[in-house]
Amino acid sequence: MIERFSSLGSWFGRVLLFGLVSLLGQQSALAGNLYDTASGDLVIPIIRLEDNTAYMAIFQRVSEEPPVWGASEFTPVSVSSRTEGVYTEQTASLWVPEINVGDVLYSLNFNVTQGCGFDVCLQADAESVVNNGRYGAAVYTTPLSSGSTFSCSSCHAMTEEDGFASDGFRRPGHPLKNANLRTSYKNGQFTEFLDAVNTCVTEWMNSTALEETDTDWINLLNWLQDQNDSDSAELVEVDIVEPPVNVVGGDVENGRDLFNTRCIVCHGFDGEGTQLAPKITGFDLSLEYIAQRTRTSGLTDSSTYSGLTGGVMPFWGSNRLSDPELLDIVAFVSTGAESGVMMANDDPLVNTETGCTSTSSKIGQTAALSTLFHAVSGTATIIDDCTIDLTDFRFDGGGIDVRIYVGNDGRFFEREGGFAISGDLVGISYFNNTLRLTLPPDRTLDDFNSISVWCVAVGVSFGTGFFN
Ligand code: HEC
Ligand code: HEC
Repeated sequence: MIERFSSLGSWFGRVLLFGLVSLLGQQSALAGNLYDTASGDLVIPIIRLEDNTAYMAIFQRVSEEPPVWGASEFTPVSVSSRTEGVYTEQTASLWVPEINVGDVLYSLNFNVTQGCGFDVCLQADAESVVNNGRYGAAVYTTPLSSGSTFSCSSCHAMTEEDGFASDGFRRPGHPLKNANLRTSYKNGQFTEFLDAVNTCVTEWMNSTALEETDTDWINLLNWLQDQNDSDSAELVEVDIVEPPVNVVGGDVENGRDLFNTRCIVCHGFDGEGTQLAPKITGFDLSLEYIAQRTRTSGLTDSSTYSGLTGGVMPFWGSNRLSDPELLDIVAFVSTGAESGVMMANDDPLVNTETGCTSTSSKIGQTAALSTLFHAVSGTATIIDDCTIDLTDFRFDGGGIDVRIYVGNDGRFFEREGGFAISGDLVGISYFNNTLRLTLPPDRTLDDFNSISVWCVAVGVSFGTGFFN
């Protein structure tokens, strides 16, 4: 049963796939690069799980036409076998993740786990890029080898709509789409794109400047250029400003919302901290200190920016954060996070007020999440007819489009009745947090008996629990 097809328009020449097989807990890289640049062949290993046996078939692209998943352009050309498992060619029951026209895959990890209970366990993971060549998207989303934990994507979205990236967040830097076409950078200080990028590389990422001939730079530039949709680009202004003299009077609740769509990228939900930046709420920091740090953070001896007052966090210019927004955020950070319930990614599905009835016999049932991938754990408890609290929730924030799903008997594909009860959780680390999850209005507690931290893009559960 091949469930998903999508045609890949300009796929040819754009896609690199790397494979990593994790078999029964052991990680071993598939030999070589799966995109043969000489022939243009695309070789995709597909792994399937059945009766605790792993199957893998290698598919090769044989035609110059854009391939269609699962269709005849993919002809199995070889079957690899490994000592840990039995591999045969199993074309009949392959499921492949949905990939859209123009998407660039830079890393695809294939995890085979004994008894994970799904037809296929495939996991695409942006964080573990195989080292035999880094692709542009990976350069954008992962830290540079010698530098800090920041990547370009920590501070720049590719595109924004009304000031927000597709994940709902605003970052301190301007978006990078078409940026290589700007005629000058950083208020006219640079005319070369690479020079502008390199001040970020050296001053924000604490790495060594990229050279024209570096593979990382070539890959990044190619990937950026590939996404341009214009022949020219507007200049952007860098406007480092001092905080207002008077920073009192901000609205804490609004500040929390603002914090959880801006500062969250590095400091995590409610400022609890991530691997990118420390916890900053709950320390009684003064309003003035928070405001100053936010406005003028960065190297005091920066070669590019003047007026910075120290720190490795990027400054927030006034065109990325307004003074009223700053005041509210400052009020929130100084007050500290309220312990307890928080919202999952501000998703409209998720409310903190339940306003629900309590009639179901399932109220009080709990489900403990297993730990399959990405350090997931936690306990889900049915609070009332439409509310589930996920307590002691842990998740490292990795994966692609990861949401809380519910479904029946550990099956969460939408075709099998699974549905989302949170927004995308990727990019945020959770350490013993509580998520309050609300069922969509057209669903009831009778529609499911299990819950998952579900990687929607790939169709794999990072952790599953069954309500008792
Ligand atoms: C820690 C945060 C941070 C990181 C990481 C970072 N930048 Fe920046 N970048 C900034 C800030 C802040 C500015 C100045 C505000 C602005 O213009 O966007 C900036 C400015 C730029 C500019 C100039 C914009 C203009 O037209 O004046 C470019 C280009 C750029 N960054 C590219 C990159 C690339 C590519 C990477 C990754 C290799 C990267 N940056 C990594 C924070 C960062
Ligand atoms: C790109 C990542 C990043 C983003 C986005 C970010 N920060 Fe930071 N922030 C850091 C890092 C890293 C530190 C710790 C190092 C330092 O002090 O510069 C820090 C430190 C701070 C501090 C100092 C904490 C202390 O205990 O001294 C404050 C205050 C702060 N950030 C506020 C904010 C606010 C407010 C926002 C959102 C408007 C924000 N940060 C967004 C990375 C970030």
